[in-house]
Amino acid sequence: MTYVPLPFIQWQMLFGSDVTMAVQDPSYPAYVDSSVIMGQTGQYQKDSEKYGKIEYMRCNPENGFFPDLSAVGKTEIIFFCSPNNPTGASATREQLTKLVQFAKDNGSIIVYDSAYAMYISDDSPRSIYEIPGAKEVSTKKM
Ligand SMILES: Cc1ncc(COP(=O)(O)O)c(C=O)c1O
Repeated sequence: MTYVPLPFIQWQMLFGSDVTMAVQDPSYPAYVDSSVIMGQTGQYQKDSEKYGKIEYMRCNPENGFFPDLSAVGKTEIIFFCSPNNPTGASATREQLTKLVQFAKDNGSIIVYDSAYAMYISDDSPRSIYEIPGAKEVSTKKM
């Protein structure tokens, strides 16, 4: 797979309505919005402010802004943004290596959004393609 500068809704049109997806929580709203537009989600749950059928991967200070993948269900698509909007957290090489392995184990495709890669000032990867094997399981949005 490769870099394709499509807006998110066009990615979703390629995937269709009948896919399952995971997003960081919190994340850039376009991933969930486009999923809703495509009819991939279940009902909106007022209490939790979440949609059914979406796997929300909690990213907070307690887990270093990287999801506990052992608690994340298998999905066909994983949207992953680094540095993340709105947290600004960028995933380390070790974390992205875990994510790539997780995608391989589950047969998932990672849609990697690196819109803010130019702001990375440490040695975190600018692209998921810096991770060995990532090209087999991911595509890059920016
Ligand atoms: C994380 C992230 N990705 C992508 C974009 C731009 O997306 P698009 O090219 O679909 O308008 C933005 C714009 O704010 C963003 O914050």
